[in-house]
Formats: sequence, structure tokens, C-alpha cells
Amino acid sequence: MNVVYLSPGFPAEMPLFVRGLAQVGARVFGVGDQPAAALPQQAREGLHDYLQVGGFADEGAVVDEVRRWLHGRSIDRVECMWERLMYLAATLRETFSVPGMNRAQTAIVRDKEAMKQAVEKAGLRVPRHGRARSRNEAWAVLERVGFPSIVKPIDGAGSQDTYRCDDRQQFEDALQRTRHVDELSVEEFIEGEELTYDTVCANGDILFENVSWYRPKPMVLAKSPWVSMENVVLRDLGHEFVRPGVELGHGVLRALGFATGFTHMEWFRKPDGEAVFGEIGGRPPGARLVHAMNYSADIDLFRGWAEATCYGRLSQDTRKRYNCSMVFKRAQGDGIVREHRNLAALLREFGEHVACVELTPIGEPRRDWRKVVVGDGWIVVRHPELDRCLEIAQHFVRDLAVIAR
Ligand SMILES: Nc1ncnc2c1ncn2[C@@H]1O[C@H](COP(=O)(O)OP(=O)(O)O)[C@@H](O)[C@H]1O
Ligand SMILES: [Mg+2]
Repeated sequence: MNVVYLSPGFPAEMPLFVRGLAQVGARVFGVGDQPAAALPQQAREGLHDYLQVGGFADEGAVVDEVRRWLHGRSIDRVECMWERLMYLAATLRETFSVPGMNRAQTAIVRDKEAMKQAVEKAGLRVPRHGRARSRNEAWAVLERVGFPSIVKPIDGAGSQDTYRCDDRQQFEDALQRTRHVDELSVEEFIEGEELTYDTVCANGDILFENVSWYRPKPMVLAKSPWVSMENVVLRDLGHEFVRPGVELGHGVLRALGFATGFTHMEWFRKPDGEAVFGEIGGRPPGARLVHAMNYSADIDLFRGWAEATCYGRLSQDTRKRYNCSMVFKRAQGDGIVREHRNLAALLREFGEHVACVELTPIGEPRRDWRKVVVGDGWIVVRHPELDRCLEIAQHFVRDLAVIAR
């Protein structure tokens, strides 16, 4: 099994997927824009060969370079876990007649309007929505959507340039603030909790599924720098709180005809229990969520994904044992981290339920959470009972402080 893997060294989690592929016996041909010497060790160890390309911007040039480098060697898969290079991966698949998502299928998971149209056509609930390339088009969509509404880039990420609007003035302000954005999505604002539905699939079968719960909602988080974010991997997918989203997720995957690999969907749970589609990516979730899923079942989904992708199966026992709450901390104050306030006491009290703690070390500069999603800390708390898990995690949200001065 020969697998071409795009950007094996960046972003941070890529080397883990490379390692997973190597562990299941695949020969991994890495293609990246970093010098080989700059690759993280895990990536280097997992690679059979590596091609440094001049850059990723010119797709045609990359295709030519890869063709020359492969030198007639046949490849079975082209994999890419980085959103930015998903079209390039599709182009390489089409060029070398390799199975997996082609450009048209990729477009559906990269364009917030295209995906909503596909999901809506299958009779599933999406927010009222429309695409807008100009101020006039935006106002026209708003007439159908009504208030409250949300304005966001059609291919956005990380809640950037995303605004809730409750009246005409706020809508006008949002249009002014997003003037640099080429295409907008204007949507009905859905009030409710925000959760994920994530899977590993092979040949259209769901081999692993997951729901996690964002607290607070990502948009609130992007606008509230002092808040610690929590993302909770839920153990019981049959629970009434999550079941509507799981059912929606099944329908969405069917509607998109998704076959093989990771998926990451976001959905809203309205107070009356209705699940509303948010968005879906044909890639794993970021922000360490794969790690949290691993902690919930003591598994390795980096390897599990590789096995599913290469051989169509997932042979680990993936039953969940725990609810896992991941807490990301943002430092208080500017400059150098001086103190991990309350950490020792919290670990004395709850240490047996803490699967992982990584904080910006004392003496190092605080991080910019706009650039580094984990910010200044990453803590995983786990417990078989959800209430207890949330309660313990709250101590790390509230009482743990990374202090910079
Ligand atoms: N229709 C909507 N109703 C309510 N909130 C929304 C809606 N669309 C987006 N949001 C909020 O904005 C955030 C970012 O939007 P999303 O579509 O997930 O884009 P991205 O994650 O790529 O930035 C969501 O996590 C959610 O908090
Ligand atoms: Mg999102």
C-alpha cells in the first residue's frame, strides 16, 4: 500500500497520522514544502520517502514534481488532513486515478453553501441560508432569512469575520466589517447548544462515531479572550441529548455519499431537542479533538484512521469508557508565564481523573490563542459519569489560572 501524504510535518498533528499509516504497514510518500531536516521526528520516522516541493500555490507545478519523483511507482492513496490542501489532494487523485474524494466531492465539504444545499436536498434541517457576493445580494438573502441572522465567510474558519445580527443596523455594520470578504454566507441564527458529530468511515460504513459538546459556543469564545474553552467528548451516544445529532449525522453522510476517512460535522441542538446542521468537513476535527476521542476509549485513532483508509476496517475496541472534557486555558496578563495558580492543589484532589496536563511552562512567553488553538494550556479530565466529569472539569476552568506578567 503506497500512500502519498501531503504536508506530513505541518500542522502539528500531521506526524501522528503519518505514524499511524506506517504502523499499519503502508509506505508513506510525504510531499511538503518544508526541508526534510525540518520535519518533526515522528514524521521523518514514518516516511518511506519525502519530496520537498517549491510551494503549494501552483497545483500544476506540484503535480509535475510529484509525477517526476514517483518515477512510475504506483500509488494507492493520496491523503491530506489539512483543509488548505484538500483540493490539491483531489487533483492528485484525479491525475493518478486514485480512489478517494475528487474535486467535485471536495467542493461540497469546503463550501458552506454547497454543503447546506446538498444536506437540505436530502430533507434534513439546515438554517435558512443564502450566498452573497455583494451588499445587495446580502440584503436579498436577509429578506428570506430574517432576524436574528448570522453573517460569515463562505469558506471561513475559526469563527473569523462572523457576526450575529439582531436588527438592520447590526446587519449593515456586519456587512461593513466584512467588506474584505469575497463571498458571504447569510444564515438564520440558531439558538442552542453547539456540538460535533465526528466519524471514521470506510467504503460508506461508519466504523467509529463521536459527539462532543463545545462550552461555550465557538463564536462566544472567539470574542471573549478571558474564557477557558471546554470541549466534552460524550460517552453515551444513545442519550436523548445527543441522539438527534447522531441521526442527523447519519443522514448527512448518506446525503453526501461520503465513503472513506474522517468527517467532522458541527450541529446545533435547539432547546426543543431539534438538531440543525451547521457545517461538515471531510477531515478530522482539529484542536486536539482526536486526542480527546482517544482518551475516551483508550484507543489510537491516528492508527485507526490509517487502518480504515488502507484496509477498510478498524480493529481496535473503540467502545467509550469515559466522558472526556478537554479544557484550553488562556493566560491572564501579558509577557512571561510566572505561575500555574492552583495547579498543585487541583492535581492533589482530582489527579486520578486527569489524563493529561500541558501548560505553557513557567518562564516562557504566553501564547497567542488566536494563533495557537490550545492557548496556554491543555487539560483532559475524564470520568465514566458525565455529571462528575463536568464538575471536575469546572474546577480546571474556574480555579486554574496561568498567570503571566
Ligand atoms: N446559523 C448559525 N446559528 C448560530 N450560530 C452560528 C451559525 N453559523 C455559525 N454560527 C456560529 O459561528 C461559529 C463559526 O461558524 P462555522 O460555520 O462553524 O464556521 P467556522 O468554524 O469555519 O468558522 C459557529 O461555531 C457558531 O458558534
Ligand atoms: Mg465551525
